[in-house]
Amino acid sequence: FIPPAEKTGAGGAIIAKDILGNPIPATQILAEAPGSRALVAGVSGEPTYLIVKEDNTLDSIGILDNCTHLGCSFPWNPMDQQFQCPCHGSRYAPDGTVVRGPAPLPLKIFHVAVVDNNILISPWTETDPRTGETPWWV
Ligand code: FES
Repeated sequence: FIPPAEKTGAGGAIIAKDILGNPIPATQILAEAPGSRALVAGVSGEPTYLIVKEDNTLDSIGILDNCTHLGCSFPWNPMDQQFQCPCHGSRYAPDGTVVRGPAPLPLKIFHVAVVDNNILISPWTETDPRTGETPWWV
């Protein structure tokens, strides 16, 4: 399977890497079951969740694994279809919006694109599609 090439988003794109710093081919992530979340090293090495969609392509939005309460990492709970922070119980919807506090803000997002089997991740600086406003991190 060769994913279609997509245009990259804003500048500053980097290639998604694994924990050892090796580029992760898109085919490796897309081998995961539809609905999976895969953690990769993204912009500035920050842990970023990629989403394998039901049609077996990568979602064009990646989500930062960094709770907006006090910065804990959190797992994806496939049963509840939520990101659930183990530190103080915040819960986030699949798109990173807050379902339950104390997290005050939606999770930071990134552009994700596949080009020549590389996964490109770049900063999201435009309007946040979840709030219709300028992103809180810009
Ligand atoms: Fe996630 Fe506090 S750091 S709920």
